[in-house]
Amino acid sequence: MGAIISGLGISLPDNVLTNADLERMVDTSDEWILTRTGIRERRILPKDSPLLASDLGAAAALQALQRAGVRADQVGAILVGGIVPDMQFPSTACIIQEKIGAKNAFAFDITAACAGFVYGVNMASLLIDSGQCDHVLVIGAETLSRAVDWTDRNTCILFGDAGAAAVLSRGPKDRGVIRSLLRSDGGAADILKLGNLAHGTACINMDGKHVFKLAVSEVSRVVVDTLALEGLTAANLDLFVAHQANVRILNAIGEKLGLPEEKVMVNVQRYGNTSSASVPLALFEAEAEGRLKPGMLVGLAAVGGGMAWGCNLVRW
Ligand code: COA
Repeated sequence: MGAIISGLGISLPDNVLTNADLERMVDTSDEWILTRTGIRERRILPKDSPLLASDLGAAAALQALQRAGVRADQVGAILVGGIVPDMQFPSTACIIQEKIGAKNAFAFDITAACAGFVYGVNMASLLIDSGQCDHVLVIGAETLSRAVDWTDRNTCILFGDAGAAAVLSRGPKDRGVIRSLLRSDGGAADILKLGNLAHGTACINMDGKHVFKLAVSEVSRVVVDTLALEGLTAANLDLFVAHQANVRILNAIGEKLGLPEEKVMVNVQRYGNTSSASVPLALFEAEAEGRLKPGMLVGLAAVGGGMAWGCNLVRW
C-alpha cells in the first residue's frame, strides 16, 4: 500500500500586506521587491489578533480532513512544522490535536523551518508504510509576522502568515509517496536563524545571498538525487511544487532541472514566504487550478534554516 495525499486544506489571514504598504513602513519600493523576489503581497495576522500558529494549523487541518473524508479520531499522528510555535512547550502539534479533537493521535513538532512539511511527509509515509498509522496529518502552521523585524527591509518584505495541511492515508500501491530524501547541514546554521528570546535576538536574521545560492544548488541536487534513486530524471516530473521563497530561486532551480515553466508551481507572488506552510499551500492551489491529475509524478522540495532541505516524489 502507498501513502497517498488524500486531502489538503489551508487557512489564511484576511489581512493583505501589499508592497505599497511596505513602502510606507521601510525604505523599499514595489519595483525592488518585485524584481528581487516576485512577491506582490502577503497575508499577515493583525498585530492585535489573538490567533496563534495552532489556530491557523487547526483550521487548515480540519479542511484537509473534510476533503479527505477522514474523521479526526482516525488520525494516528500529527506532525507540525512552524517557526513561531504557540509556546516553547507543549508542542503546537499537541495544541492542534486538542483543537481538532484527534484524540487517538500522537503529536509532535518538527523543527526544520521551511523544510518542515517535506520532512513531515517523509515521516508520515514511513509511519503509514510500516503499518503504524492509517492516516497522518502533516501541517505547516506559520505566524512568521511575529518573528519579523518590521524595521529590517532585508527580511520584512519576504514573509507571510499561513496554515496549510495535508492528510496522508494508506492507499493503492501504485500511488502516493514513492521516495523521499532529506539532508541537513548544521555548518550553515548561521546563515538563516531566529534566535532565542532569552538572548535578545528573536527576529529572523538572514544572509540572503548565501541562502539564495545554497537553496538553488542543494534543492536541485536533492531533486536529481531522489529521482535517480528511482531510475528517473527531471524529465519524468509532471509538476514541481517547491518551497515558495522567491520566484528567482524557483526559476533558477527550474532551469537547472531543465523544467519548462508550466511544470513549476509558483504562487509566491500572493503569499510571500510562508515557511513550512508554503508547499501544502502551493499544492492546494495547484489542485484547485486542475494542475494535479491522477498518475502524475509530482516533486515536492523545500529548504530552510538548519540548513535543512529535502525532496518527496509523489505519484498523484
Ligand atoms: N528594498 C530596497 N533595497 C533593499 C531591500 C529592500 N527591501 N533589501 C535590501 N536592499 C538593498 C541592500 O541593502 C543592498 O544595498 P547596498 O548594495 O547598498 O548594500 C541592495 O538592496 C542589494 O541587496 P542584495 O542583497 O544584493 O540583493 P539580492 O539580489 O541578493 O536580493 C534577497 C536580496 C533577500 C531578495 C535575496 O538574497 C534572497 O531572496 N535570498 C534568499 C532569501 C530566502 O529565500 N530566505 C528564506 C529561505 S527559506
